[in-house]
Amino acid sequence: MTQRDETPLKIEDVSGKVFNLDRNACINIFNIYKVYKREKIEVVALRGLTLHVKRGEILMIVGPSGCGKTTLLNLLGGLDKPTAGKIYIDDEDITDLNYDALTVYRRKKIGFVFQFMNLVKSLNAYENVELPLISLGVADDVRKQRINELLELVGLKERRLHYPAELSGGEQQRIAIATALANSPSIILADEPTGELDSTNAHEVMAVFRNLVQRFPNITVIIVTHDMSLKRYADRIVRMRDGMVDESMSLQYTRDGELLDAQGVAVAASGTTTMPDLSEVLPQYPSISELKFCPKCNASQIQVSILKSVNIDKPHPLFQLNDAVIICNDCHNVEKVRVKIFHP
Ligand SMILES: Nc1ncnc2c1ncn2[C@@H]1O[C@H](COP(=O)(O)OP(=O)(O)OP(=O)(O)O)[C@@H](O)[C@H]1O
Ligand SMILES: [Mg+2]
Repeated sequence: MTQRDETPLKIEDVSGKVFNLDRNACINIFNIYKVYKREKIEVVALRGLTLHVKRGEILMIVGPSGCGKTTLLNLLGGLDKPTAGKIYIDDEDITDLNYDALTVYRRKKIGFVFQFMNLVKSLNAYENVELPLISLGVADDVRKQRINELLELVGLKERRLHYPAELSGGEQQRIAIATALANSPSIILADEPTGELDSTNAHEVMAVFRNLVQRFPNITVIIVTHDMSLKRYADRIVRMRDGMVDESMSLQYTRDGELLDAQGVAVAASGTTTMPDLSEVLPQYPSISELKFCPKCNASQIQVSILKSVNIDKPHPLFQLNDAVIICNDCHNVEKVRVKIFHP
């Protein structure tokens, strides 16, 4: 067996900013921003989030509503792209991929589990798990074996002929986990998977994730939840706040089901705020979500890297100015610009 090289790899972007890519981590997220813009309203959902997730880790993400948890999962799952920053999955920069390549990435690596289990009501448990395998083109005999393995893994082989309406919420969610595992993903992204469940069912679902990682130590699971009573199932808990990892909580490991720092349990009730249009304010600087095209060739395949914030004599109450670099994947133009970014 070949030995995996685990020395940290330094990634230097064209702006000269250096990141350490942790080879032990299957997910390396560097300084990502996500800004949603609709008409004149901009929402900064993620603002400079950096996070590393180890292979085989069960990571729980907690934080107040609107702090960017779902946005982060969407970016990790390749459903959307960050406005700026880098995401490396198994050493591959997925922020470089176009939307077709992201679809391939998703199929190869990602399993999604959502709060509302997306089961087809008119199909039984077996047929629900079969659906994704059919779309992956898995041959009949292999498919049958795989469905039985997956149902066994989630402890529901005996219930394979039951329809969703004949299963409890927790059992339905376990079937949904089996469907998410159909493509043998290495990363499971679960967005409030127990949000609709009572405590007993919630614990059963979390036990399935634990069991999964025990049997397949290379699978990494990221679970967003509001329920701190589930913390004992996690290897690590990260609290987010205002689109960033709350530093005070970023390395709180659970030990025997207890957080090392119990203070972190209190959730600060702050969400991401919706800001007014700032086009009237310092209009010479674009906001980060306006950096969509290469200033030279107008191509849309660009990467934006946010650099240091700029000190201004009179800090504005609503936003800060940052230096940023636009790198065009098309014409390879590199251009330094200054952008407005809303304060947390
Ligand atoms: N497509 C979108 N367009 C505009 N704003 C969006 C969009 N998606 C999310 N947002 C905003 O981005 C911020 C972060 O949203 P997100 O859904 O990531 O939060 P969350 O932490 O998952 O919240 P919750 O715990 O309520 O699910 C919110 O202010 C939200 O309104
Ligand atoms: Mg959410």
